[in-house]
Amino acid sequence: MFAEKPTLKGTRVTLCPVGPEQVEGLFELVSDPEVKRLTGSHGEVSHEHLHQWYATRADHSDRLDLAIMADDEYVGEIVLNQLDAANLSCNLRIALIGARAFGRGYGTEAIELVLAHAFTATPLHRIRLGVYTFNERARHVYKKLGFVEEGVERDSLRWDGEWHDAVLMAVLRPEWQARSRSLA
Ligand SMILES: CC(C)(COP(=O)(O)OP(=O)(O)OC[C@H]1O[C@@H](n2cnc3c(N)ncnc32)[C@H](O)[C@@H]1OP(=O)(O)O)[C@@H](O)C(=O)NCCC(=O)NCCS
Repeated sequence: MFAEKPTLKGTRVTLCPVGPEQVEGLFELVSDPEVKRLTGSHGEVSHEHLHQWYATRADHSDRLDLAIMADDEYVGEIVLNQLDAANLSCNLRIALIGARAFGRGYGTEAIELVLAHAFTATPLHRIRLGVYTFNERARHVYKKLGFVEEGVERDSLRWDGEWHDAVLMAVLRPEWQARSRSLA
């Protein structure tokens, strides 16, 4: 499904296949305390592991890992993973590098570009994601782009001793097509 690793150009951001040259940016992203909280990421990851991770993503045709670049600088990543090929379904995840990149329209445009690619250049029918209830900015962006809330995973995250729910959202190909037509 994702053997081809495209470069997708928008006005604010360009998405390009991740590679080891972006590992410093990824290290900043996974080390940022606010990004860790918003994505519910426990634990630490070594620089070496991240280097190996980005060096090998191109070898996997069941996922698409794209770097979000703004003004030629790595500002985050957006990923289609957990492919269910029989049901033409996958998961989406996105994270920008930290607060300095938030609120500039990068996330909105990156998701728009990936949805357009997924629903025009691949046969995917359904793209789902999970978002913690406290992540109001992300929930706003997903809803704005046509993701529909489908359910709640109760006490999905334990962070600093507190339990948090995750909202499950998805967008279907016909919904994306109808939205694209209405915006055209
Ligand atoms: C979630 C994320 C990808 C969004 O990308 P972004 O570039 O920051 O968002 P944008 O600038 O494109 O859009 C932000 C929108 O949220 C709105 N917003 C900002 N803070 C908000 C809040 N606390 N509550 C509700 N809406 C909020 C803005 O007004 C804007 O809405 P608009 O486009 O309708 O005007 C990015 O903030 C991020 O990477 N966060 C950290 C990691 C993360 O949370 N990942 C998602 C895990 S599910």
